[in-house]
Amino acid sequence: REEDESGKGLRVFDPAFQNTAVAYSKITYINGDTGALRYRGYPIEQLAEKSTYLEVAYLLIYGELPSKQQYNYFSHEIMHHTFVHFNVAELMGKFNYDAHPMGMFISGISAMSTFHPDANPALAGSDLFIRDERIRNKQIYRLLGKTPTLAAIAYRHRIGRSYNVPQNNLTYTENFLYMLDQLSEKNYKPNPKLARALDVLFILHAAAMRHIGSSLVDPYSAISGAATALYGPLHGGANEAVLRMLEQIGSLDKVPTFLQEVKERKRKLFGFGHRIYKNYDPRAKIIRKIAYEVFDVCGRESLIDVAIGLEKAALEDDYFIKRKLYPNVDFYSGLIYKAMGFPTDMFPVLFAIPRVAGWLAHWKESLEDKDSKIWRPRQVYVGPSVRSYVPLDLRD
Ligand code: CMC
Repeated sequence: REEDESGKGLRVFDPAFQNTAVAYSKITYINGDTGALRYRGYPIEQLAEKSTYLEVAYLLIYGELPSKQQYNYFSHEIMHHTFVHFNVAELMGKFNYDAHPMGMFISGISAMSTFHPDANPALAGSDLFIRDERIRNKQIYRLLGKTPTLAAIAYRHRIGRSYNVPQNNLTYTENFLYMLDQLSEKNYKPNPKLARALDVLFILHAAAMRHIGSSLVDPYSAISGAATALYGPLHGGANEAVLRMLEQIGSLDKVPTFLQEVKERKRKLFGFGHRIYKNYDPRAKIIRKIAYEVFDVCGRESLIDVAIGLEKAALEDDYFIKRKLYPNVDFYSGLIYKAMGFPTDMFPVLFAIPRVAGWLAHWKESLEDKDSKIWRPRQVYVGPSVRSYVPLDLRD
């Protein structure tokens, strides 16, 4: 234990989060000592016996068992989001004949983000967007709908067979089995016992995962995960979000209105604030200098005036002073990339490429650490206490 320089209290050294809870959660209750597992208060045994995977998915995501109407809507939406874009399937077809299906699956999921730009908060230029329930639900339906299809495509590719088109008149797991099947025909109906067994297995595996690292996964998969974490607009995707924000502001005279919206929490000032840097981010200072050097070569990027005006106004404003919010590394980097002619959506990629070295350094170090353990952050369960499953027909 040591005193934290920020004065916030004690910093506790807890290798691999073995004793540290990282979040409050209402989703999964686990008592390792008694062997109890509950999803949202429902014992796993009851769910495995009486429920279905899609119903459990609904429970996990939305917190309550669905009514009949909610269930019908939810499963209809998911089963009508099972098709993947033809080009995704084509992409999957380009893997080596012996490619590991997990590698194909992860790549397919990753590729999906480019086919559904409406799920990208950076393109919308607002962090509020992804909190919109309608938009969020759409992504939930898509991910639940399309991931089995991607998995099936990976599998079919592995065995050198053509892909089977999803059948949305089947149940979730029946459809998955259908897509995997060697001889699928339109009228093929998977064995209901197998479909149910798979459904139960899915229920048992449905608990939410919060952490990628330290499972000794291969470095490519680990980096795909690390790159995904980086991609968010609060992290390495902020450079793209900054540029879209500056374009939306457009001119210096719009800066005060924009800052007012930030203070009213209608917007976020991308490129400002940092978990660690509570002063001017040293990287931002250097980047600002480089910006002018690049402009000398490529021509001045006109939005720099908006950026400088924004920075000046924010640094003089009580809201930002009180919260120790300063420009971070992403505030000026996008302007440089833009001046250099990179398209805006390449910015996070430009952040990720050099990060690979850092990720590999951590990977190597952890492999060389003889005391290294799998990271399993704990959660403090604050959801409902134990409750009994109510059959669908008896629900309101
Ligand atoms: N605009 C408006 N308000 C902000 C901002 C911002 N950019 N950043 C923090 N705040 C406020 C926040 O609302 C909170 O206010 P209150 O105490 O009244 O609730 C206070 O400042 C403390 O912020 P926090 O969210 O508790 O800080 P955090 O350490 O959890 O988050 C951050 C750090 C980087 C996610 C956040 O500052 C942020 O969202 N910044 C904008 C996105 C961005 O530029 N990210 C790139 C970071 S640098 C690249 C890298 O990741 O290395």
